[in-house]
Amino acid sequence: MKKIKMGWVGCGGISKTHAQNIQSLSDRMEVTHLVDIIPERAQAVVDQVGSGQVETDYRKIYDKVDAVLLSLPHDLHCRAALDFLAAGKHVLVEKPMANSEEECRQMIAAARKADRKLMVAYCMRYHPLVLKMKELIDSQEYGEIFQVSIWTEQHTEYPTGHWGLEARRLGGGQFFSHGCHYVDLLLWFLGRPVRGLHMGTRRGTPWMEKEGTSNVVIEFEDGKMGYHFGTWGARGTKLGYSFHAHCTGGMLELNIAQGTLSVHVNGQETVLMKSDEVKPMIRQMSHFLDCIENNTQPLTDPVSSLEGLRVIWKLYEAEEKQIMADLRNEGLGSLKKEMRPTELVDIKPFKENCSSKSHKLLING
Ligand SMILES: NC(=O)c1ccc[n+]([C@@H]2O[C@H](COP(=O)([O-])OP(=O)(O)OC[C@H]3O[C@@H](n4cnc5c(N)ncnc54)[C@H](O)[C@@H]3O)[C@@H](O)[C@H]2O)c1
Repeated sequence: MKKIKMGWVGCGGISKTHAQNIQSLSDRMEVTHLVDIIPERAQAVVDQVGSGQVETDYRKIYDKVDAVLLSLPHDLHCRAALDFLAAGKHVLVEKPMANSEEECRQMIAAARKADRKLMVAYCMRYHPLVLKMKELIDSQEYGEIFQVSIWTEQHTEYPTGHWGLEARRLGGGQFFSHGCHYVDLLLWFLGRPVRGLHMGTRRGTPWMEKEGTSNVVIEFEDGKMGYHFGTWGARGTKLGYSFHAHCTGGMLELNIAQGTLSVHVNGQETVLMKSDEVKPMIRQMSHFLDCIENNTQPLTDPVSSLEGLRVIWKLYEAEEKQIMADLRNEGLGSLKKEMRPTELVDIKPFKENCSSKSHKLLING
């Protein structure tokens, strides 16, 4: 099969993580162009990837690539995605998809019009331990789930002048920028949300225009609860990135830093699976290539990404009004009737290290 020619646009912090071990996909793709308005950054990624030509204007690569990875400031996601889709290119866009519902809808419409893939880089959905946790929750291996708690404690302090300090460019605060991964996972793990509450603070992260620390509680159908605590102000951490899923027959514990998924039953901890991957960028990129090669829809498709962001926007709105957010019409699948015919797709590439049962999910056509 012909190799897919990839361009990367935006060669800042996260592109270095995307570049790690990317050579393992060299039989399927070639990174041909690295674009950044600061050419030294693009050159640094060329050096890491071992291939590619530096450009400073992404319009110069329309005719030279089949697909692009967009790792840009959030307020540029929509414009760049629309430009590449209009040029007939497949797009893998970093999370969060865009800063407004209007922008997300434009991107979805453009991908449909161009008949190209548009995938959102919610990398945690491709993590082998997260996939295993999802499988154990769905199969009720340890009984019925009633609470998922997710902690993310990190120190993220952007330098003066960085776009991430501005709420308008970031699209909000820590909750929107980083919490979007975990709202997406809570919805994926727990189903339909009913109501929720977000409270954030700038205290401890004065460099942020909006919250740098956030707490969100979501009640789901059947009384299931989801909680996420995220901070960019941690001066130390005990939990790092940890997920606890309380089920009636045991508690599943996922610790990303330790690379373990365990179950606690009757005071005994049993390690179920190990993985030293922190960010599964290669699996995510491999899935993007699969979708292009096989003409299938991505697990992290743009409609479900918009559905997750709508929950965040509703929670922000309710926080402003000091009320509880009504989430009864939100969640994954909520825009299904309006925006997509349903189609069942097997997500096989992510089953390695997991049991043979396959995940089925609803995706847009
Ligand atoms: N998946 C994850 O875990 C994860 C982690 C961090 C960041 N991200 C996401 O990755 C994206 C980028 O974040 P980052 O931390 O790498 O930001 P960054 O500021 O480090 O990098 C952005 C880069 O884009 C470049 N740029 C700006 N305008 C440009 C333009 N018009 N054309 C070409 N290049 C341009 C900048 O010069 C900069 O090098 C964001 O969407 C962010 O949320 C994802």
